[in-house]
Amino acid sequence: MFAVIGGSGVVGSSLMKMSRRMVARTPYGAASGPLNFAEIEGQSVVFIARHGPGHIHPPHKVNYRANLCALQEAGADAIIALAAVGGIGEGCGPGAIVVPEQIIDYTYGREHTFFDGGDRQVRHIDFTRPYDDRLRSALLASAKNAGEAVVDGGTYAATQGPRLETAAEIERFARDGATLVGMTGMPEAALARELEMPYAHLCVVSNWAAGRGDSSVKISHDDIEATMRATLARVVSIVAAYARSRGKAANGGS
Ligand code: HPA
Repeated sequence: MFAVIGGSGVVGSSLMKMSRRMVARTPYGAASGPLNFAEIEGQSVVFIARHGPGHIHPPHKVNYRANLCALQEAGADAIIALAAVGGIGEGCGPGAIVVPEQIIDYTYGREHTFFDGGDRQVRHIDFTRPYDDRLRSALLASAKNAGEAVVDGGTYAATQGPRLETAAEIERFARDGATLVGMTGMPEAALARELEMPYAHLCVVSNWAAGRGDSSVKISHDDIEATMRATLARVVSIVAAYARSRGKAANGGS
């Protein structure tokens, strides 16, 4: 079974035949919302809405540890993390779908580790390549099979939010090498690595980041929502292609 962390729009998608819901409690507290078990292309998937039902948890209050713990307990062996992002780099304009390769963490004050001085022995996990290479490749191949153009690579800047950035902050992120900016990629990716769960981002660029492109003066929320609505079906078709590829692999690649 694989996991999808994402926005609530995906739950209702016709591609997912919902079969069961489960409220997840973990040693780290309650997950953002129920786990939704479903099937895509005959493959089992567990879905969780990162911000909870009705988008109630802001990025800095999401219980990332509980969400990941719940997905692991449920038996997920890979996590596709959907995320809306602002575009900074070339080719990362609104509507682009990006599978980034690197992360820079600018967040603070979040519960960002499972190795927090409890009864788990501390491990300093390797995070040189923050995303799982095999899962990234599988997502890129799935996008190709689905006929969807995606950007392969780039660097995700994780920012604290919930406010959007200043133009100067985006300039700084760009100088640091970031091509995307979002508010939820960390600590999510690092916690997945701590649990040794393969994790990759499928980012949807909802807007040019502050000071860039048509966001030179202001970022329009109406435009963000329109872009997300217009892109959802493409994201779902990539996830469906990924599910098909898992089915093929399980049947010996035939
Ligand atoms: N900045 C940070 N997070 C975001 C943005 C942005 O411009 N767009 C969507 N998520």
